[in-house]
Amino acid sequence: GLEPPEYGRPVTFTAVGGNDLDNVIVPNGYDWSVTIAWGEPVERDAPPFDFDNQSAAAQRGQFGYNADFVAVLPLGRRFDRALLWVNHEYTNENLMFHGWSGAESATVEQLRISMAAHGGSIVEIERVGDTGEWRRVDRPRRYNRRIHAGTAFTVDGPAAGSALLRTAADPDGTSVRGMLNNCAGGVTPWGTILTGEENFHQYFGATADVTDPTTAERYERYGIRTTAGTSRAWERADQRFDVAAEPNEPNRFGWVVEVDPYDPDSTPRKHSALGRVKHEGATTAVTADGRVAVYMGDDEAFEYVYKFVSREKYREGTSRRDRQHNMRLLENGDLYVAKFTGDSPEFPDSPPADDLFDGSGQWLPLVVNGESMVDGMTVDEVLVFTRAAADQAGATMMDRPEDVEPHPVTGTVYMALTKNADRTAGQVDEANPRAGNKWGHVIALDESRGDAAAKTFTWHIALLAGDPEDPDTYYGGFDKSQVSHIATPDNVAFDPAGRVWLATDGMPGAAGFNDGMFVMPVEGDDAGHIRRFTSVPVGAECCGPFVTPDGRTALMAIQHPGEVDGATTENRASTFPYGNQPRPAVVTVWRSAPHGGPYIGD
Ligand code: FEO
Ligand code: CA
Ligand code: CA
Ligand code: CA
Repeated sequence: GLEPPEYGRPVTFTAVGGNDLDNVIVPNGYDWSVTIAWGEPVERDAPPFDFDNQSAAAQRGQFGYNADFVAVLPLGRRFDRALLWVNHEYTNENLMFHGWSGAESATVEQLRISMAAHGGSIVEIERVGDTGEWRRVDRPRRYNRRIHAGTAFTVDGPAAGSALLRTAADPDGTSVRGMLNNCAGGVTPWGTILTGEENFHQYFGATADVTDPTTAERYERYGIRTTAGTSRAWERADQRFDVAAEPNEPNRFGWVVEVDPYDPDSTPRKHSALGRVKHEGATTAVTADGRVAVYMGDDEAFEYVYKFVSREKYREGTSRRDRQHNMRLLENGDLYVAKFTGDSPEFPDSPPADDLFDGSGQWLPLVVNGESMVDGMTVDEVLVFTRAAADQAGATMMDRPEDVEPHPVTGTVYMALTKNADRTAGQVDEANPRAGNKWGHVIALDESRGDAAAKTFTWHIALLAGDPEDPDTYYGGFDKSQVSHIATPDNVAFDPAGRVWLATDGMPGAAGFNDGMFVMPVEGDDAGHIRRFTSVPVGAECCGPFVTPDGRTALMAIQHPGEVDGATTENRASTFPYGNQPRPAVVTVWRSAPHGGPYIGD
């Protein structure tokens, strides 16, 4: 085994240029391979993929569509085998089925294939020789598992069993089938996966208008349909997706889900204590007194950033009892939402006199010690209608909070705000300083006393993305003539050398070339020296990303290759990865050159 790279190791690779190639492009000295693609068998009895004869039964055992969050969890000490976790966020039926002409004319079997292609996958992978390359294991052991729209989940925490969560199929309000639109996520210190249910509103249709005004108001805050009609027609395959028949079913989605990848028989859990929003992801830090904080973004324009702090303390031990204790940490705790205050009151009438977009902030309480902190709302209501609670608390509306992730060494929390073109000049503030923000930005947040349980923080903008030649951009103060052009930051990751990695979603529209994975050094003379590490195929966004704990491998999800206007299976914009129909995939990138260092970033 190789020691991980030293903290602060310099980045030395030569940046990849912006391009519109239909392929994964890596720097000189690197290589890449497809680890797994849509339709490839995950569960042991799953059939091989057959694009022209796909079935829901096959899809329930095969790798799902639109890979998003990626994590690698070691199996054993030698780190030559591991479990790969992947979110399957959503489906592009126009690229999945021949002759697709909209959900209304879909067959029920097609709808069921789409349902089965959502969720997540656990895939056993192994290192290739002594390289940084990983491949999926030909004959997986017991871990491989598909989670999809039919999988059983338990709801835990204060809102479990609430009247707001009860349905005909689940009169107790504690067991849900399926997780939907899982976008990003995180790995807990005790080795489980947290995964966020994001744009769940799109799965619900209505066979009649919603007439109850309270229900309609609650739906509208989350973008759920209130008039008769459909979007994905899932209610034709399963009546629970008809809000006229089952008005509480949407309340059962929009949660942070915890999955134990090491126990294939475990029931994944939806943690009601963490609130219900359009969760991008959820990432953890241990507080000064040993509890666990979870950071969460609600990914929609003008939405909020949240933090949960557990009631109980994390146990560092790895015994079965310690792990069982830790697996219950997210059942009870306090929930907060962020308010950002600038320190330059002259802005926006004139530029900040201190030349910085920065300031202080507060974590506004929503639930503390099991009590609602929001007037007129019960704890159940705060947790199920969390956006309404945060509105009342006076939180700061952000430019689409995506990944919110604490640096494992410094504790600084990096928040990707992907974009918000709808912000007007009258709506800018120091934390969201650009009107018509098509390019996004990154905020670095430091908790008071470095304690993840703090109720106050300071913050500064670390990156104002966009064309470096545009005077409105800011690359951490680094010389912008030397940086790679980045826009629409979405996912955040860290490597053992302490660098921040960013993956983008939307560069074709915001910059004119493909999405990719970028390194953003945040300390020392190199801070702000952003370099493009990879670019991804036509129409794809780059997700994950993930750098393994030994620093030798980067993994990326190639989400929705070929997703361009008007694309069909016949008229396709991408043929990634196998030269025929485009298929979402996870790829492994490793350093292959015999000279130079062996680590990602060398
Ligand atoms: Fe699914 Fe927030 O991107
Ligand atoms: Ca300032
Ligand atoms: Ca995302
Ligand atoms: Ca995204």
